[in-house]
Amino acid sequence: MIRSALLNVMTAAARKAARSLKRDFGEVEHLQVSLKGPANFVSAADRRAEEILRAELEKARPGYGFIGEEGGETAGTDRTHTWIVDPLDGTTNFLHGIPQFAISIGLKREDIIVAGVIYNPITDELFTAERGKGAYLNDRRLRVAARTRMADTVIACGLPHLGRGGLAEFRTEFAAVQERVAGLRRFGSAALDLAWVAAGRLDGYWERNLKPWDMAAGIVLVREAGGFVSDGGGHDTMLSSGDVVAGNEAVHRELLSLLNGATRLTQAGA
Ligand code: IPD
Ligand code: CA
Ligand code: CA
Repeated sequence: MIRSALLNVMTAAARKAARSLKRDFGEVEHLQVSLKGPANFVSAADRRAEEILRAELEKARPGYGFIGEEGGETAGTDRTHTWIVDPLDGTTNFLHGIPQFAISIGLKREDIIVAGVIYNPITDELFTAERGKGAYLNDRRLRVAARTRMADTVIACGLPHLGRGGLAEFRTEFAAVQERVAGLRRFGSAALDLAWVAAGRLDGYWERNLKPWDMAAGIVLVREAGGFVSDGGGHDTMLSSGDVVAGNEAVHRELLSLLNGATRLTQAGA
């Protein structure tokens, strides 16, 4: 597979930051036994990875804007392009020594995400996509799963964090979907959840209250693998609303209808 110059830049940055994260993950596995735990160490690992990504991307494409989870937003001289970066998606997993986390890099041109790279340093799985050019896992072209009967599907979701609202609403949604599907999962990395929908491992996925860096790269991956992504209202405003629903055309439609039914129940106070 021949990657474009753009994807090469993104992939090289991800791999460089991944070396640092992988070293730190090895340390975290040791720190589990201490009572205080590795929390401070992990936030330092997170910041180190973002600094590497920022420096590498800036070197290759000076002038592009940058939005990173840790360092916030830096406007570029080129107003049309912005990197949207999560240096460590799946922090809770990382902190607990669970090898389900990733670096996520999206590129926004005007208002459209045109390229995405999601890399899990532990499994060495590199998901890449560029608008109009398909989605790949390493060198293999990706296609979303073909299942259309909800009763056959495995669907992933996000659970509201401790301290964040929305628990009651989530439980209503969870119940509505649970009654219809073969299995529900919660893996703990939104970026990988979307990448796994693109890879056909998951038939669908929904989550609310995400940030742009959790999903920017994943959105283009799912679409380039032939899937559908929207917010809960079926609109293309995931980055501003924070809600995301993904799947093949049929699963996406069914999920939207189940979630909207659940919202009506919540609003009716049931
Ligand atoms: C989190 C993960 C998780 C999702 C959370 C995100 P972080 O990102 O993507 O799967 O449920 O809402 O905040 O904090 O690990 O970068
Ligand atoms: Ca994240
Ligand atoms: Ca993060």
